[in-house]
Amino acid sequence: MIALYPGTFDPMTNGHLDIIQRGATLCTRVIVAVAKGTHKHPQLDWTARFNLCRDVVAPIENVQVVQFDGLTVALAKQHGANCILRGLRHAGDFEYEAELAGMNAVLSPGMETLFLLAAPSHRSLSASVVRDIAAKGGDIRAFVPKQVADVLS
Ligand code: COA
Repeated sequence: MIALYPGTFDPMTNGHLDIIQRGATLCTRVIVAVAKGTHKHPQLDWTARFNLCRDVVAPIENVQVVQFDGLTVALAKQHGANCILRGLRHAGDFEYEAELAGMNAVLSPGMETLFLLAAPSHRSLSASVVRDIAAKGGDIRAFVPKQVADVLS
């Protein structure tokens, strides 16, 4: 199974990394796809988010990182991915994720979305909370990989 893991990653958190590591044990290959995400007005620019993701996952042999600004299902096809990987933190994620998975399955019949439940320690974590803590001078080292903390602190 080859999985595509799309997201904005503004920035990558330990929650995302946990999903990638677990996905990489289940799948032959995981492709982390960093969306341009203009609609979310990311704080870090696209290249910075891509470079951070690439640095963080470098030790994991079967994970690669790409940038994209189109349809997730088109990118999945381009890379031979047969599923989309997403993390679920809590019930609040469900409706949004069900909508994305449903639309992707219509756009690309047979495209499955594989959901992994976030580890309990990551269920309250989000990229926006991390950005907020960093902006107010708080310590984010418990929530993000070292490379991210070095850039945001
Ligand atoms: N642990 C911690 N946090 C997590 C997490 C986990 N396991 N999983 C998600 N999150 C958080 C993220 O930090 C992020 O927080 P934020 O909103 O505070 O920034 C939030 O949950 C969701 O972010 P992310 O997982 O990066 O996804 P996204 O919603 O930014 O990405 C795309 C959305 C890119 C997947 C979606 O816009 C997309 O598919 N775009 C392509 C266009 C397309 O194909 N459209 C048709 C499909 S409908």
